[in-house]
Amino acid sequence: MPPIRIAVLISGSGSNLQAIIDKMENCEINGELVVVISNKEHAYGLERARIHNIESLLIDSKTVEHDEYNRLILNAVTERKVELVVLAGYLKILDKKFIEVYKDRIINIHPSLIPSFCGKGFYGLKVHQSAVDYGVKLSGATVHFVDEKEDNGPIILQKSTALDFDDTAESLQRKILDIEHELLPEAIRLFCDRKLKVIGRKVSISK
Ligand code: GRF
Repeated sequence: MPPIRIAVLISGSGSNLQAIIDKMENCEINGELVVVISNKEHAYGLERARIHNIESLLIDSKTVEHDEYNRLILNAVTERKVELVVLAGYLKILDKKFIEVYKDRIINIHPSLIPSFCGKGFYGLKVHQSAVDYGVKLSGATVHFVDEKEDNGPIILQKSTALDFDDTAESLQRKILDIEHELLPEAIRLFCDRKLKVIGRKVSISK
């Protein structure tokens, strides 16, 4: 099977991007990371891409007007014949057209067990602070396909971790990031091996 052409979209540090790069360099994923795109100029993920000789592209959402931004980002992936778009800490909402063109081919990682602590306003430490404040005993990470609603599409993988009484938002974030670094590359591996099938709200994973 030919390798799947992948774009990773980021807005920040890119530790999930690093986990993907590591697995790819280890030949564990039948994919080719063709471009890393950031909407933020100082996202460290751009530097990670450069270090690994992967094309890095800044489309600055601060300086580019909204419609133009959406046009540029869709062009960037279609021009490069990208087949899978991975959102790895990408803090912008993709527009309707992008989601239509890449239906069932956009994967996002969220640092909670969806449908808890997700949707509008739940990003970064706020997700973990909400879980700690609520007093849940379990939280975790979710990888899902992206549809037109925030953190809503069919779930591919989830993994939980227990909260200790003394956990803070920061300590929970660290625990969950470790899970994310396994879960996101695993979902990408399954996609690239053509093992994922979306059936309504569910994702079947073939053996
Ligand atoms: C992760 O917690 C991810 O789940 C969320 O944003 C964070 C990105 O972290 N969507 P990093 O940039 O990959 O280190």
